[in-house]
Amino acid sequence: MIYLDNAATSWPKPPSVLAAMREFAEDWAANPGRACHRMGIEAGQRVARARASLAELLGAPDASRIAFTLNGTDALNMALKGFLNEGDHVVTSTFEHNSLSRPLTGLERAGRLRVTRVAPREDLTLSPEDVRRACARDTKLVAVTAVSNVFGALNDVAALARAAHDAGAAILVDAAQAVGACELDVAAAELDMAAFPCHKGLFGPMGTGALYVRPGLDLRPLREGGTGSRSEEETHPEEMPHRLEAGTPNAHGLAGLAAGLDFLRETGIRRVREREQSLARDLVERLSEVRGVSVLNGRSREAQTGIVLLRVGGLASQEVAALLDARYGIAVRAGLHCAPGAHKFLGTFPEGVVRVSFGFFNEDGDAKAAARAVAEIAEGV
Ligand SMILES: Cc1ncc(COP(=O)(O)O)c(C=O)c1O
Repeated sequence: MIYLDNAATSWPKPPSVLAAMREFAEDWAANPGRACHRMGIEAGQRVARARASLAELLGAPDASRIAFTLNGTDALNMALKGFLNEGDHVVTSTFEHNSLSRPLTGLERAGRLRVTRVAPREDLTLSPEDVRRACARDTKLVAVTAVSNVFGALNDVAALARAAHDAGAAILVDAAQAVGACELDVAAAELDMAAFPCHKGLFGPMGTGALYVRPGLDLRPLREGGTGSRSEEETHPEEMPHRLEAGTPNAHGLAGLAAGLDFLRETGIRRVREREQSLARDLVERLSEVRGVSVLNGRSREAQTGIVLLRVGGLASQEVAALLDARYGIAVRAGLHCAPGAHKFLGTFPEGVVRVSFGFFNEDGDAKAAARAVAEIAEGV
């Protein structure tokens, strides 16, 4: 199989990730942070190691400001529902992933929030000036993506944070497609919150995600319960990360994540990004001469990740994806990619398009194989 669906989740994971999960499961998989026997202590240390390593990668001032979550969606829900109050105004973009836009729209339709949505520029990025203009006196939060999972274009999150702060609002960044793909320093960019899955660019397994919350900002917890700490108290602990983590964590997954972060550090984010970008460019160049195939993104070459959006003749995206799978053993994602607003902007709603997303482990020949397969499908072979 040629796997070109890395924007959904990265595959394969580095062998060290699988080895770390296996070793953890076989030797240490006691409940972390709950017991004083050596297995429990070791399990707790594995979770702490993943947290410290993630804090270092993100430039977080304090590892305890990172709470582990189930996935990116969980982290975004925790941020929005833990921070916003009845009647608040929120500025977001028109091209967010459903994991950010649906909770906002749900609260808006229930009459609990006002939401203003800012459209992208022609280069498919979000303008900090437009965001600033959309803010009102009562804007509590700017909630936007760092990299759209459809456009694949990098937004300037530091400038977006300045725009939010100028307006007296906080900023929440959906960093799902950004972590591991670009240098994201939460302290340097002055982010208030960053939410992301750890199963994409960080090479962790599915079932891992995280929410960074800057020091001094306290969220209401979405879940309360056992934490292994302050068990004598009747209410949920207030200190991070326990404030936002209740119940047994996905320690198997976090053991794998720690190894994934090691792999990323040793490899270098820049190398990963350059590899994904160069494969994407190769595919785009190979397809540029093919009749009936249009590439819909990649308008800014520098600010682009490994995502390529394709329309192939008059064929439905699902049909193209099914043919790529069945005839060529190539895995891509068709449809709307959980971001209908992005497709409305591109004029590809509701049918959607084919999304090819390269990952670090793709080989040079993969772009060539994908280009040949798409060309044959376009030519009706
Ligand atoms: C931009 C963006 N935000 C949020 C998410 C949600 O992440 P998860 O599927 O881990 O909940 C995704 C996943 O594809 C994404 O691409």
